[in-house]
Amino acid sequence: MLGFQFIIIERVKLGLRILFGLIFLIFAIIQLIRPSFTNPQTDASLKLENQISVPSEVNSILERSCKDCHSNETVYPWYSNIQPVGWYLANHVEEGRHELNFSEWGTYSQKKRKHKLEEICEQVKIGEMPLRSYLLIHREAVLSEEDKRILCDWTDNEISKLPSEE
Ligand code: HEC
Repeated sequence: MLGFQFIIIERVKLGLRILFGLIFLIFAIIQLIRPSFTNPQTDASLKLENQISVPSEVNSILERSCKDCHSNETVYPWYSNIQPVGWYLANHVEEGRHELNFSEWGTYSQKKRKHKLEEICEQVKIGEMPLRSYLLIHREAVLSEEDKRILCDWTDNEISKLPSEE
């Protein structure tokens, strides 16, 4: 009877060793598949602050809370070198830039600018932006009610300066 239990325990131990070995192997292999962390060069004249007026208090909010995902000036943290975290971050940056890229503001049509300005205020008001996963780590990026008001006053003001649509 005792011998039988012994065999079971040895089997379980062996199974666990193989399991952890496999997990480690998979983890090691995925480290080799690195996402590309890019900050594409863009013409400085296309940047938001060179296109429309961005008061310094607005700029500091955008710098602090948005530009890691919505510009070509992303600061990639050290843990972006650990997969699958890096894949996750690269994906957010890619999607974020695709939706709104302050470094390429100058390429946007008047209609798109208006829409994006409206969305900026809307997204921060409803608490969709900055992304919650980002705020867990970047506590300094959390927006106060005052920050939101500053952003919305700015977007309202910039929208009113745009030529009205025919
Ligand atoms: C961690 C990355 C990240 C941060 C930080 C971030 N965003 Fe986003 N943003 C995204 C992603 C990804 C999307 C697209 C998917 C979605 O809407 O959830 C997006 C979408 C948006 C959109 C939607 C555009 C549209 O037309 O629907 C707006 C506007 C926006 N973000 C504004 C902001 C503002 C303003 C900030 C700072 C206060 C900010 N975001 C911070 C990643 C980010």
